[in-house]
Amino acid sequence: MKPLGPIPAGYGAVGGELAIGGRPASELVAESGRTPVFVYSRQHLDERIAQLRAALPNRVGINYAIKANSFAPVLHHMAGLVDGFDIASGGELAMAQAAGLDPARISFAGPGKRDEELEAAISAGVTLNCESGGEVDRALAIAERLGLTPRMALRVNPSFELRGSGMKMGGGAKPFGIDEAQVPGIARKILEAAADWRGLHIFTGSQALSADAIIETQGNVLDLASRLAAEIGASLPKLNMGGGFGIPYFHGDEPLDVAAIGSALGQRLRDLPENLRQTELCVELGRYLVGEAGVYLTRIVDRKVSHGTTYLVTDGGLHHQLAASGNFGTVVRRNYPVAIASHFDAEPAEEVYVVGCLCTPLDRLADGAMLPRAEVGDLVAVFCAGAYGANASPSAFLGQGPAAEMLV
Ligand SMILES: Cc1ncc(COP(=O)(O)O)c(C=O)c1O
Repeated sequence: MKPLGPIPAGYGAVGGELAIGGRPASELVAESGRTPVFVYSRQHLDERIAQLRAALPNRVGINYAIKANSFAPVLHHMAGLVDGFDIASGGELAMAQAAGLDPARISFAGPGKRDEELEAAISAGVTLNCESGGEVDRALAIAERLGLTPRMALRVNPSFELRGSGMKMGGGAKPFGIDEAQVPGIARKILEAAADWRGLHIFTGSQALSADAIIETQGNVLDLASRLAAEIGASLPKLNMGGGFGIPYFHGDEPLDVAAIGSALGQRLRDLPENLRQTELCVELGRYLVGEAGVYLTRIVDRKVSHGTTYLVTDGGLHHQLAASGNFGTVVRRNYPVAIASHFDAEPAEEVYVVGCLCTPLDRLADGAMLPRAEVGDLVAVFCAGAYGANASPSAFLGQGPAAEMLV
């Protein structure tokens, strides 16, 4: 038997079934007209962001990295909740614009920005978080050709990393950002070109569950930003401090202590160096804002026993839920939180393997899980599906196509 990850707070049963946003799973599936379906809950999004705002100092804005979930209704909803959007491509720029977000509140990071993407972002008035000296040169040349003043910040590749993060984006050689030592010279070039200097972006990693590690990194980020501002010889209008706030996916994971992070940050901000006192600050978060607000519902199409092992074969799988299958950057596969949505309040009764409908042994949603008895037609729920699910999975694989998505 292998343990399942912890079911996020806020999910309960209605009439024995899993309820999302207060509505039973079968009703949601009937409304979607098909399975599999990703269901995202407004209530979860609202509560998560309200809790985070209460924990963080008022001065620190919340940016949403839309790579985590760019479903248009989610973006529309988030536009009313967060202070800014972070995008990573021209495609995401179009999505952010369609969601009606003020371009002045959008910033664009990501290595390998094409000239067309730079042009679209400069024309829209979006801030470029430039990832190299070469990108700065291209952006300045494009802006000159367009006769526009580009809004430009520099993404720094810091010499430190975020301890314990699932994906490290700093500390040594990286394709992301500009090495600390090169930042002052490149920043001065932006200032000399009379571009709209927007400051620095320092993103060190993602999916950290240790508040201490995040507190340490935020301290390092503020120290580095102050030192670089001094070396550049200009103040920073804005500092994007990055994020890295994780969510519990696996057995034994504990929720992040955001109250501890907020209070430590509050302390730091009270004795901020002079050259950061006027700087606008924000954190940049993806999964922490949306991950637990989403549930993937898939239907059991077959129940079979092979060599004594029971398989629940669903109509979903890794083509929608690559991360839950264990194939999105994890070394050892562990179970996400999974439940039988049709019998959410029933006791576990048997050990089963929940698999997807793809003919590959990689397509697993839960291994050796203790779950209530389930039959063909019942619904399975995979939690923590609000981030890096629908838009980070190979939905075209085997001609399956994307899942339905809905915001309730
Ligand atoms: C620059 C940048 N911003 C934001 C994120 C979002 O990270 P998360 O969803 O873990 O908060 C990432 C993730 O890789 C990133 O690279």
